Amino acid sequence: MAPNLLILGGTTEATALSGAVHQAGLRAVISFAGRVERPVRQPIDRRIGGFGGVEGLVSYLQDQRVTHVIDATHPFAAQMSRNAIAACAQTGMPLIALTRAPWTPVAGDRWQSVPDIPAACAALQGPARRVMLAVGRMHLAEFAPNPQHFYLLRLVDAPASPPPFPDHHVIVSRGPFTTADDKALMQRFEIDCVLSKNAGGKGAYAKIEAARELGLPVTMIDRPDIPPRHEVFSVQDVLDWVAHTGTDRGV
Ligand SMILES: NC(=O)c1ccc[n+]([C@@H]2O[C@H](COP(=O)([O-])OP(=O)(O)OC[C@H]3O[C@@H](n4cnc5c(N)ncnc54)[C@H](OP(=O)(O)O)[C@@H]3O)[C@@H](O)[C@H]2O)c1
Repeated sequence: MAPNLLILGGTTEATALSGAVHQAGLRAVISFAGRVERPVRQPIDRRIGGFGGVEGLVSYLQDQRVTHVIDATHPFAAQMSRNAIAACAQTGMPLIALTRAPWTPVAGDRWQSVPDIPAACAALQGPARRVMLAVGRMHLAEFAPNPQHFYLLRLVDAPASPPPFPDHHVIVSRGPFTTADDKALMQRFEIDCVLSKNAGGKGAYAKIEAARELGLPVTMIDRPDIPPRHEVFSVQDVLDWVAHTGTDRGV
């Protein structure tokens, strides 16, 4: 039976994949959590909203007669990735993750690695600083314990409610960003430290390069653990995998 793909999206890579599967004439749906107000336009069908945990995803896979699942979510979307692993294991569904290698420090980087957002917040205890806080709007509330800092926030959508710290500036933009622009931005707002998730990939790396060029310290949040799964790093690898996987499942 012809492949019928479910792409778990929300990243540049997922959007690139949806273009490629469209070009290849494959049947596919891309799924979004519904976190952003204006999801990027896609050339394939899309669905929006959670599935309802592992059980809901299992039902979706069965009802929609999905043949392959491609997890192209952000490396920090760990719950979705864990659910995909569990639902695919339960249903015997082929699963692949289209992901990005984490960033690693290079000469000139001044990183302090922390395991998670609470640890990142704890690392900000102390006198007032000027922080570029690149964690996404869902996590702003967790920085309430450190309201003494100025925070520069760059978000895809404006926050639904005011952040829990008085001194901040919000820039609404989804990029792409350049190192030169981010360097100028950090200089304009006199940023003296950067706090970032270790997202990997090119799209969000400009601020890390800018921090390096300015000699600024970066608090880097390590990725959450995700159980082992088949991972690839390119759209072509996903297409090759689809071509060679699951064609005898009879679904
Ligand atoms: N976390 C980040 O830093 C980040 C950055 C950029 C983009 N994103 C994108 O934003 C989305 C949400 O991220 P998150 O960190 O909130 O995820 P998460 O914590 O792993 O997911 C929480 C719940 O949201 C739903 N969900 C997540 N991704 C979904 C998808 N692609 N399609 C349908 N439902 C989805 C699932 O609900 P049910 O259990 O009800 O199925 C999941 O259990 C992801 O698609 C991710 O690719 C995240």
